[in-house]
Amino acid sequence: MNKKILITGGAGFIGSHVVRLFVNKYPEYTIYNLDVLTYAGNLENLRDVEKKSNYVFIKADITNENQINEIFDEFKFDSVIHLAAESHVDRSIKDPLAFARTNILGTMILLNAFNRLWSNNWSNKRFYHVSTDEVYGSLGLTGLFTEDTSYDPNSPYSASKASSDHFVRAYGETYGMPYVISNCSNNYGPNHFPEKLIPLFINNIINKKSLPVYGDGNYTRDWLYVIDHAIGIDTVFHNGANAETYNIGGFNEWKNIDLVKLLCSLMDTKLSREPGDSERLITYVKDRPGHDLRYAIDATKINKELGWCPTVTFEEGLAKTIDWYFDNKEWLNNVTSGEYQNYYKEYYN
Ligand code: NAD
Ligand code: DAU
Repeated sequence: MNKKILITGGAGFIGSHVVRLFVNKYPEYTIYNLDVLTYAGNLENLRDVEKKSNYVFIKADITNENQINEIFDEFKFDSVIHLAAESHVDRSIKDPLAFARTNILGTMILLNAFNRLWSNNWSNKRFYHVSTDEVYGSLGLTGLFTEDTSYDPNSPYSASKASSDHFVRAYGETYGMPYVISNCSNNYGPNHFPEKLIPLFINNIINKKSLPVYGDGNYTRDWLYVIDHAIGIDTVFHNGANAETYNIGGFNEWKNIDLVKLLCSLMDTKLSREPGDSERLITYVKDRPGHDLRYAIDATKINKELGWCPTVTFEEGLAKTIDWYFDNKEWLNNVTSGEYQNYYKEYYN
């Protein structure tokens, strides 16, 4: 068997960990990484696998229908693992149409291309859509998101992801396309672009810049180490039942302010600064509009049915993450120079 697997968004944060896992673990597969390389896509993330014989990079835009159709016709992928997306909530508030284009239209163009190719023979084919827990909206102080929680997205980002989830299901129902979806909680770890909370604050602490905590900081997220998500994706891709959804989460809820204080203290130690130095950088700023209070995943289904559970504790994961940013200062400098400076001024000043 020579499985041809298309991974979209493989140059991004999570995608690069999925590509690395699949290229190394499955030498019998050919892994095609299709990515247009937006600000969030970075081939530096994949230097260690780029010369492997079972890895192919394709620079292409999932919103370009002709280009995508030609690529599907040429390579005839057996399966798609779709991660390419605009992924940052704050950007979606400034430019919602960009999120509709990539996350909804782009997903539909991939679904169409896959359907054109295989609708006469679906055997051994699979479209795997990687989605987010944000489609479920916000939890109150108690309760967990299960696979049966109703969709109730609040940001343009989560609305676009919810819409793409619905289209994937619709292609399954209407055209018989074999599919699976997973909805995951907040990831953290190496290669995370420093617009998201943890890498942004690591970078700001290094540079003694203020740490902009939105609102009162009492918002809760459920954090999962990115490699555990990649392992979850491998598990669902190979063993998940057709037309099912699996929630993936860390069983690891943190209020933002508590997480930021922990990060500050770990960074003080790492940087040999006085205890409390980094905490003094905390600045409470204007809240994110439509800010979801709390996300928390019930990952019982994937655990009971497929045997997946997180392997990295938060303490280990945060320490590994901090070490990675210290060991990869060049990566951090490269992604935070140029356009990033304009982004930062526009969003935080
Ligand atoms: P990311 O922003 O780091 O990476 C996205 C990748 O998609 C980049 O490499 C980018 O170049 C590529 N891309 C964007 N538009 C494209 C287009 N038009 N054509 C081709 N490639 C394009 O995102 P991430 O955090 O790695 O998230 C990956 C996926 O996982 C997304 O679908 C996201 O919704 C989902 N997800 C993310 C998290 C999280 O915490 N980061 C949690 C759950 C689900
Ligand atoms: O839950 C999964 C989602 O997690 C993914 O689908 C998204 O792609 C991913 O970006 C992430 O969304 P969040 O909005 O939860 O992540 P972010 O890192 O942007 O913010 C985490 C929390 O920290 C949130 O409550 C907002 C807050 N925050 C964030 C930033 C960037 C701040 O207080 N200050 C900040 O500067």
